[in-house]
Amino acid sequence: MDQKSKMIQNMFNDISERYDLINKLLSFNQDKRWRKKAIKIADIKESHTVLDLTTGTGELIKGVLNKVVPKYIIGADFSVDMLNIAKNKINEEDFIAADAQSLPFRTESFDRILIAFGFRNIIDKDLALKELYRVLKKDGKLIILEFSQPRFKPLATIYNIYFNNVLPFIGGIISGNSKAYAYLPESVYKFYKKDELYKLIEKASFNNIKFSELNFGIVTITTAMKTT
Ligand SMILES: C[S@@+](CC[C@H](N)C(=O)[O-])C[C@H]1O[C@@H](n2cnc3c(N)ncnc32)[C@H](O)[C@@H]1O
Repeated sequence: MDQKSKMIQNMFNDISERYDLINKLLSFNQDKRWRKKAIKIADIKESHTVLDLTTGTGELIKGVLNKVVPKYIIGADFSVDMLNIAKNKINEEDFIAADAQSLPFRTESFDRILIAFGFRNIIDKDLALKELYRVLKKDGKLIILEFSQPRFKPLATIYNIYFNNVLPFIGGIISGNSKAYAYLPESVYKFYKKDELYKLIEKASFNNIKFSELNFGIVTITTAMKTT
């Protein structure tokens, strides 16, 4: 694994114990609602096989299982400490340690692949998208839930103050890792704008790429289909 990915992996191992608490606090408990919306858009059926990539502490899988029990669901993440927390919440066998850039799954394994707040952290996104395309079945759907920057100016100003100052401060204190919570706003600002993300996903052969904004664009759900 490359050095940058290792750094991200270490960072999530380090903050794993406090991750859920900090998420809840800093998002004003909105994180649950955002995942719920992504799950709704995913339209998961009982007959589906589902991958929750960058599953972290398993919150998305928990949300899926509250709504529908698919034929098969698995969460993958390269942070073993995050996975251990997920395993304590849900079934041990529902999780696997894996790097999104090299997935240990057969070609055309999944009807749905969901990624919640993890895509931004993957270093080689081209490679990951290639892997996602490979393991997704024909007519399968990719759902990416990720932070974005609100376009409405007054909201953007308040959001920037909160995101750049309050969030890293509180996150740093609670987690004991100030670098991790300074990295969060930095990674969101560096992340692709919609048109760039569209091109990136399209380049990986996906189509029907659509965006849905939540909370005035603080969070965006991107969906894409594999139709060929
Ligand atoms: C912000 S957390 C999101 C966790 C969870 N999906 C959620 O909704 O709370 C990002 C997760 O992505 C994982 N991650 C980042 N890069 C990865 C990669 N290349 N392969 C696998 N997991 C990765 C991290 O280990 C971390 O658990």
